[in-house]
Amino acid sequence: MAGGGPVILAIGGSRRPGNNTDKALRLAVEELKAGGGRVDWVHLGELRLPLPGEPSDSPDPERFRHKVLGADGILIATPEYHGSISSTLKLAIDNLGFPSTLEGKTIAILGVAMGPGADNALGHLRHILTHIGGKVIPEETSVGSVHKKFGEDGRCLEPEAEAGIRRVARALLAAVQGRQALPAP
Ligand SMILES: Cc1cc2nc3c(=O)[nH]c(=O)nc-3n(C[C@H](O)[C@H](O)[C@H](O)COP(=O)(O)O)c2cc1C
Repeated sequence: MAGGGPVILAIGGSRRPGNNTDKALRLAVEELKAGGGRVDWVHLGELRLPLPGEPSDSPDPERFRHKVLGADGILIATPEYHGSISSTLKLAIDNLGFPSTLEGKTIAILGVAMGPGADNALGHLRHILTHIGGKVIPEETSVGSVHKKFGEDGRCLEPEAEAGIRRVARALLAAVQGRQALPAP
């Protein structure tokens, strides 16, 4: 962690135009920056990542691995798709190799769903990341009925949901800096 704040890689698991996962992630990124984090937001929809075993001449997989390698912490936002994480996010994780570049990394997760909550996606994501050897912090947040909680412009309409997202971001910063997360100001 040389000079400046910790480098945090933000990854959103949806590539749908106007997706809600990015709306939630944007708040977390805001909070990370406010806390001194240097944030690199990876937009998976802009990367050409092959299926495992598929030939690829794209530099994106190596670039992505490099970003993960250089990050002090990782924040992953997942949508709940069919009771789990999105295939977009799983493919990104698979592109980080076996053993994974995520091994030993400090990671925070949050999930959003149109239904009551993203608990399945969060559970599956925590399982995968822990299996890989990631250090997933206990703090997480699930935003249910997410389509009602953000405006078209991305503004969060529910203070409780916003507070949960911001809390996860602060907890990640605290974890990478080796201290306890401070309560909201
Ligand atoms: C392929 C697919 C599967 C989905 N499955 C679920 C689901 O199982 N449960 C749920 O609450 N919402 C489900 N949704 C709705 C998403 O949770 C919703 O679109 C939400 O906004 C998060 O996804 P987004 O970031 O792509 O917008 C699904 C959406 C898609 C596109």
